[in-house]
Amino acid sequence: MKTVLITGANSGIGYSCVELFLKGGYKVYAHYHNQKDHLEVIKNKNLILIQADLSKEIETIDLMRNIFDKIEILDILVNNAAFYKRDSSFEDISFEDLNYTMHVNLYAPFLLSKEYLKHMKVHNKGNIINISSIGVKYGGTPCSIAYTVSKSALETMTISFAKEAAKYNVLVNALRIGVTDTKIHANASSKNMEKRIEMIPLKRMALSDEIAQYILFFSSNKNTYVTGSIITIAGGE
Ligand SMILES: NC(=O)c1ccc[n+]([C@@H]2O[C@H](COP(=O)([O-])OP(=O)(O)OC[C@H]3O[C@@H](n4cnc5c(N)ncnc54)[C@H](OP(=O)(O)O)[C@@H]3O)[C@@H](O)[C@H]2O)c1
Repeated sequence: MKTVLITGANSGIGYSCVELFLKGGYKVYAHYHNQKDHLEVIKNKNLILIQADLSKEIETIDLMRNIFDKIEILDILVNNAAFYKRDSSFEDISFEDLNYTMHVNLYAPFLLSKEYLKHMKVHNKGNIINISSIGVKYGGTPCSIAYTVSKSALETMTISFAKEAAKYNVLVNALRIGVTDTKIHANASSKNMEKRIEMIPLKRMALSDEIAQYILFFSSNKNTYVTGSIITIAGGE
C-alpha cells in the first residue's frame, strides 16, 4: 500500500488531498496543527493523524522521524501547510511574524525534505510536492511580503533540492497555485476578493478538490519525468 504525508491536512487543500488519497487506496499520514475536528470525522483505518507545530524545528524533524520509525517507505511528501498573515502596511510587519512565516513556509519544508531524502535515498524512489503561490509571479503585495518571500524561496529550494534528489530518483516539484476557495482568505473583504478574481482569466477561484487532483497526479506514478519544476495551476494567470 502506498503512503503519503500531507501537512496542514485539517482544512482546505490539505483536507481535499486526504479525501482523494484515501479514495485512491493510499495510507495517509495527515498532519494537523491546532485543530483536527474535520479529520476526526473521517472513519478510515488508513488515516493516521499526527500533530506538530511546524514553526518549531524539533517538532518538525520528529514528525518525519516518527513516521519512519513505523514504516520503511513513505512514497510521497506533500508540503502543504502554510502561515499567511496580511498586515495593513509594510511598516506593520514585525520581525517575529516574518520569522514565524519563514519557519512554517520554508524551514519546515526544508527540514522535512532533508529528513525524507535521508530515508528514501536507499530505496531509489520518492516524490515531494511543495505548494507555492501565484503571488510569487507578481512579487506579492507590500502587506504580504513575508508570505510571498517564503513561497519564492520555497520555489528556489525546490529547483536546487531536485538536483540533489534526482541522484536517488526522488522527484521534487512545486505547484504554484492560484486563488483557491479556502479559509486562508477568511479575513479578506468580499470587495477585495471580487477584484482579485477579476484578474483571473477563468474568472473564478479554484476549488480545493481541483487542486488536490493535480497534487495527486504529480505525486503519483503517472509522473515519471517531471522534476525540479514549478508548475502553475492558476486559471490562466
Ligand atoms: N487558498 C489559496 O488561495 C492559496 C493560493 C496559493 C497557495 N496556497 C497554498 O495552499 C496551501 C494550503 O492552504 P489552504 O488554502 O488550504 O489554507 P488553510 O486551510 O488555511 O491551510 C493551511 C494549513 O497550514 C496549517 N498551519 C499554519 N500554521 C502552522 C504551523 N505553525 N504548524 C503547522 N501547521 C500550520 C494550518 O493549520 P492551523 O489552521 O491549525 O494553524 C492549516 O491546516 C498553503 O501552502 C498555501 O500557501 C493557497
